[in-house]
Amino acid sequence: MVNVVLAPSILSYDSCDLVGGVKIIESSGARWIHVDVMDGHFVDNISFGPKLVSDLRKHTNLFLDVHLMLEYPNKYAKRFIQAGADAITIHQEANCDVRGQLRIIKEHGCLCGLAVNPETVPNFELVRLADIVLAMGVFPGFGGQKFMPEVCSKISLLHNFRSSNKLSYKISVDGGINADIAKDLASIGMDIIVSGSAFFSDPRTFQFCLS
Ligand code: DX5
Ligand code: ZN
Repeated sequence: MVNVVLAPSILSYDSCDLVGGVKIIESSGARWIHVDVMDGHFVDNISFGPKLVSDLRKHTNLFLDVHLMLEYPNKYAKRFIQAGADAITIHQEANCDVRGQLRIIKEHGCLCGLAVNPETVPNFELVRLADIVLAMGVFPGFGGQKFMPEVCSKISLLHNFRSSNKLSYKISVDGGINADIAKDLASIGMDIIVSGSAFFSDPRTFQFCLS
């Protein structure tokens, strides 16, 4: 078994039947649910709000890994924490005091994540503070896109920085990930797979990390 966490992205499931999506995730053996939150400003799409997280919380004990693709995550992070999020990931590119926001998320008992778009060079002062570093495999905003292989060098960079600085953040990769790509990325340091369309098209393909 490959020792990685699978976090299926609920964005890829029928939003009129999300409890059905949760049941598919639970019966696959995955222990995390990735929740993509989009504001129509930071990305050209709109998805879920804090109420979805509080509703999901009533239906599952799985780990809620909330990805805030928001221009101003500082305005909403606390509401997602109060709604029951277990991890809150904000973008390095967001228009706020990212350092301060990571600290606030941590102070509220949540894992804090730093997401980095494909074209962005990680700010290693911020990477040091994060529990999770989320390397975007696609330009954020939509599921079903193709993984950008140039992101692999960033995953190796994050892996090398972690070991040479004796840090313990987890490396998550999000966007365009199917089982074959996930196996390759796990061999260069990825710890958490975020997968939406590939997972929901056939959850069994991810058995390699669930058995
Ligand atoms: C994209 C989201 C991803 C996406 C994953 O902005 O952050 O989580 O929903 O879906 P797939 O696996 O289909 O790319
Ligand atoms: Zn995401």
